[in-house]
Amino acid sequence: MKTFRAPGRVNLIGDHTDYNEGFVLPLAIDLECSVQATRRPDAVVHVTSLDVGLEVEVAADGSTEPSEVEPAWGGYVAGVVRTLADRGRSPVGLEAIVSSTVPLGAGLSSSAALEVALALALCDAAGLQLPTLELARACQEAELVATGVPVGIMDQLASLAGRRGHALLIDCRSLAVEPIPLPAGLTVVIVHSGVSRTLVGSAYAERRRTCELVAARLGLRTLREATAEQVADEPRARHVVSENARVLEAARALSAGATDELGPLLAASHASLRDDFEVSTPALDALVEELVEAGAIGARLTGAGFGGCVVGLASRDKAETIVEQAAGRYRTRTGRQPRAFLCGPADGAGAVPER
Ligand code: GLA
Repeated sequence: MKTFRAPGRVNLIGDHTDYNEGFVLPLAIDLECSVQATRRPDAVVHVTSLDVGLEVEVAADGSTEPSEVEPAWGGYVAGVVRTLADRGRSPVGLEAIVSSTVPLGAGLSSSAALEVALALALCDAAGLQLPTLELARACQEAELVATGVPVGIMDQLASLAGRRGHALLIDCRSLAVEPIPLPAGLTVVIVHSGVSRTLVGSAYAERRRTCELVAARLGLRTLREATAEQVADEPRARHVVSENARVLEAARALSAGATDELGPLLAASHASLRDDFEVSTPALDALVEELVEAGAIGARLTGAGFGGCVVGLASRDKAETIVEQAAGRYRTRTGRQPRAFLCGPADGAGAVPER
């Protein structure tokens, strides 16, 4: 039996930019999905999830239709099996047990962690070696075939390419990944708003389509090429263009240890996601406000929006107090139950060494 692990991710800054070939700055977190797997002599992939208490069986040749698998969680399994089969994986069977510490529906990429850990186990069992980028693409496609949501590549690539102590500056056009060290005195705080993400799928697809339409109207391949002037009257596209600039600024500020520059960048990112891209919620807005009020350097919603988590940066010695105070005030203000995670940037996915 072999074990493979894949982390969730939190995005420090740069949301709804990846599918516009822009920039993102995520980090892999120390919450992860692990898959214990052995080869099966038949051509069946059978996966049991300890978290959802469900099991699923799909054909190892990728012929099982991901969108039709019951339970729906099994669609991810069928999706990964299919997109790896498309890349030449032979139909070797697998018996696998999955467990995860990444909270579901929180915007911390629990599904990407599942896809990546499973993909590693499936490749290993069949002796298939794929470069990291190709694995990330296979997992991104698996998400699409399983859920129909046309996601970008950030989550899967961050889960694979994570580096302990670092955030990752990813250029989603070239797919170059540059690890940026996080200053030692900083802690990344993640607080779940207590509201699960809803309607993410259709709203996400609609936002993506709008971005593509604006790019097409401007005669551009993607919004990556657009200037601020070109999109001045297009709120969705304006977000993408301004967010790309903020990601590069934030990466530069982190590298230079200029932490005082990060707060305004995170604040501007949140405001742009709220006002121009319209993917925030009153609960996320309240949580961001309370974190900053309690002394965080900065905070913003993270991931697709519409619920889930906010991310913040705080000085290490004050992080716990800040989160406690913000969570308390948020609870009183909204009646919601927040949940906090103080996460270190973790290494990317891989096999767990045998003991
Ligand atoms: C989801 C998608 C990513 C990215 C974010 C928003 O997490 O999976 O590809 O688009 O939303 O930044």
